[in-house]
This record gives sequence, C-alpha cells and structure tokens, in this order.
Amino acid sequence: MAGAWRVKSVEQSILETDEPGHQLKRNLRTRDLIVFGVGVIIGTGIFVLTGKQAALNAGPAVVLSFLIAGVTCAFAALCYAELASSVPVAGSAYTFAYATLGEVVAWIIGWDLLLELMLGAAVVAHGWSAYLQSLLHLPTWLAGDTARPDFAAIAIVLVLSLLLVRGSKTASRFTGVLVAVKIAVVLLVIVVGAMHIDLANYTPFIPPAEPAQGAAVGIMHQPIVQAFLGLEPRSFGIFGVVAASSVVFFAFIGFDIVATTAEESANPQRDMPRAILGSLAICTVLYMAVAAVLTGMVPYADLNTGAPLAEAFDALGITWAARIIALGAVAGITTVILVLLLGQSRVLFAMARDHLLPPALAKVHPRFGTPLRINVLVALAVSALAGVVPLSQLAELVSLGTLLAFVVVCVGVLVLRRTRPELPRAFRTPWVPLVPVLGVLACLWLMINLPLNTWLLFLVWMAVGLVIYLAYGRRHSRLAAGGDLADSPPDLPEEAADAELPVPAGSP
Ligand code: ALA
Repeated sequence: MAGAWRVKSVEQSILETDEPGHQLKRNLRTRDLIVFGVGVIIGTGIFVLTGKQAALNAGPAVVLSFLIAGVTCAFAALCYAELASSVPVAGSAYTFAYATLGEVVAWIIGWDLLLELMLGAAVVAHGWSAYLQSLLHLPTWLAGDTARPDFAAIAIVLVLSLLLVRGSKTASRFTGVLVAVKIAVVLLVIVVGAMHIDLANYTPFIPPAEPAQGAAVGIMHQPIVQAFLGLEPRSFGIFGVVAASSVVFFAFIGFDIVATTAEESANPQRDMPRAILGSLAICTVLYMAVAAVLTGMVPYADLNTGAPLAEAFDALGITWAARIIALGAVAGITTVILVLLLGQSRVLFAMARDHLLPPALAKVHPRFGTPLRINVLVALAVSALAGVVPLSQLAELVSLGTLLAFVVVCVGVLVLRRTRPELPRAFRTPWVPLVPVLGVLACLWLMINLPLNTWLLFLVWMAVGLVIYLAYGRRHSRLAAGGDLADSPPDLPEEAADAELPVPAGSP
C-alpha cells in the first residue's frame, strides 16, 4: 500500500481546475444557492419515505426522526462549508479527502459517493415512477412500487441523461420553475393537510416497541446496533424512532452537493454557509411540518405505500389536492434525478482526471462538450438499478454511503486544521473540534442504526472498490506519476463547465 496515503495538495487541486478557459462563472448568490439546495434536497425522501417509516418504524414520532436527522446534517453541513470554501474544487468529499486523508481514502470516498449519487439517482427515479403511476393511473406493471422492471424509472433516467449529454443549458432554465412548483406543493400539503388533522391519529405518538413483523423480521433486517446487542428484532419504540431517522436521513441528501458549488459562488465566504445551512434549515422545518400533518391526517399504519402524500389526500376524498401533489412530486423529483446524475458525472470526471479511473473515460464529446462516455455509463447503470432493485433497500444503502462521506468530511476539517493551519479559510466551522467530533459521532450513530443486510451490501461494495484501487488506481494515479497536468485528458470546455450546474432561474 506504499504511496496509497499520498496527499494531493490543496494548491494542486485548485490549479488543476483553474486552467484557462475552464473556470466556472462565479455568479451564484445566496438566494440562487438556496433555491438550488432546496431543489436537490426535497425529493423522494419526503414524498415517499416519510409514510413508509411512519408505518413501519416510528409512527407519528417520525417528526422526531426528521429532527434527529436534520441536526446530524447540521454538524456535517458546517464542516462541508469550511472545506468547500478552502478547497473549492469539483468532486466534493472525494476532493476533500484527497487533500486531507490521502489517496486511498479519497478513492474509497469517491467509490462510496457512487452510492450517494448513482444509487441515489436510481432510488429517486423509482420514487418518481410511483408518483407518475399514481398521477396517471398507469398500469402497475409499467410504473410504481411493484413494477419490475420499473419501465417509467428507466425511461426518466434515459431521457434526463440524454439531456445531460447534449448539455444541460435548457434543462437548467427549468430548475428554478420546478423548485417553485415543488415548494408550492409542499406548502399545499401542510396548509390543506393541517385542516384535516384528526388529533386521535397522534395517539400513541411513539407506538410501543413490538416484535418486528413482515419484511422486517429476521436479524438481517435489524439495525446492527440491535443485532450486536442481541436484541430481539423490534419495530417502533425509541429504537424505532432512531432507526427511522437513519432512513429519512435520505431526505436531507443534497446539501452536500450545494457545497460543490463553492467555485461558482460570487462570495463563498458569506454565501456558502448561509446557503448550506439555510437550505438545510428550510427543509428540516418543511419536513417536520409535512410529517406532522401526514401522520395527523391518516392512521400511521395506512401510510406504507409508494405515494403516501397523494394517497393520504385521496383517502380523505380530497382528490383535487391528491392530483396536484402527484403532479408537483413528479415535476419536483425530476430536478433531483437530474442533479444527482450531474453530480455523479462530476465526481467520476474528477477521479478519471486524477487517473484513478481510466482517463479515457473523461474524454469530452467534441460537439456536445460533455463527458459522453461517463454520461452513458452512468445512464446505463442508474437505469438498470432503478429498474430492478426495491426502493427501501436502496435508500438505506444510499444513506449509509452518504453518512460515511460526511464522517470523512468532518474528520477532514480536523486534519486540515492541523496540517494546514495557515490555509486561508473563507468559512471556519465554529467550535472546532466539538462540532466535527459531534458530526462524526452523530453520523456513526445513524450508521449503526441501519440494518445488517445494508451493511453487508455496503462492505461488499467497499471491498470491491478497494480491489479495483489496488489493481488499477494505485498504479495509474496521476499524483504518483508526478501529477503532470500535460498528461491529463482535456477538461470540459467552458460552455460545458457552465452547463454542469443547473443555475436556478433568476441568477444574474
Ligand atoms: N434528498 C433527496 C430526496 O429526498 C435525495 O430525494
């Protein structure tokens, strides 16, 4: 493993993205970044997982699950804000790890980010399909929770990938509009739903722990903390609320993608922390309100469906609202898939640029100016995953992968403070080391509350990644070869680099 711990200096990381003609425009302001953040964050998590977790694990206390997940994310978000402002380079946690913990950790996190972004896009596409089915009453073999393969999910991934191959300029114009639609729908749920709350549905608020039933039976489906303590598989109770927070954590994924836009921020020092923490705060409040309203409208046990928000309104006979919600969900979730696919191509591009993946992958298409090969690979992989794998299992794996990235980013802040104390930091995480340490502990706590089968899949995935690194990346690493810029593949042309980020409507 000699050389695997080599660290890429912050200066070199920045230099490689600052080659003439490849700088991203610094034109995003707080409002744009918040719109962008909320656009990426709000998606399948709130529209699908809230209902399932209320029904299976937490009851009405799923509200508390959202609070726990939101606070955990706040610690990590403060760390992301510092690293995004000190190392404003594409690649997010992968790049931060390369600059702090060394190449092998960077690779592991890059590999791990495939779970957040690629698998995340698949999960979200599957949720999109459930709402489309509910909206258009499509046959259940074609779309929705039980469709295998899920043709609608496959179709949306392919269509959006096609859009990305051709450049996302057109798509980016719609981002702001779709985000507005999405927020309007969430507010509609809260306001109209609040008028139909039956207080009896809140009792019991935390349903008493009971032996797990149905699909949750068996040690493989138990959170590993319970499995290792030798506890009988149980749902609900306090453990159920925490287990649910590990799953609904998925709904918060995306604020870390905001951090990757530090390079495009007009004033990262002021705007990044505001945008990251602002979008997180807005989403936490909206999520808790939606969870409270939803579990107040119908008994939590009835919420285990693919499109619980729309179906809750349907069940109460408010069909006009149900249709608007389904329409808003379909429109709003589209932007999440789009940005996750974009984020994935950006991280893979950074890894191929570092020669940890074949550099030929990062070749850009001469006419479209986008990394065609990476986009095609991502499109095929995501559509295959979205087509065949069940949503809940995927979502937990996505959360586990993302939580590991958060742990590394929190540790990265501590390491960089020691190794590069003099580095200019546009934003400094407050109360270091307390906040990063709390971030690590909170993320680890959510991680050990995820089920054993998710962990086993995760460990297999990471082991495969390590083997690939040892077989390929370690030997081909551009840093090992002296990091000569001249032998790198062509970067994205300026137009494509601009197009990489969907700029919310209203940006200057
Ligand atoms: N946070 C995003 C969602 O809930 C990934 O869909």
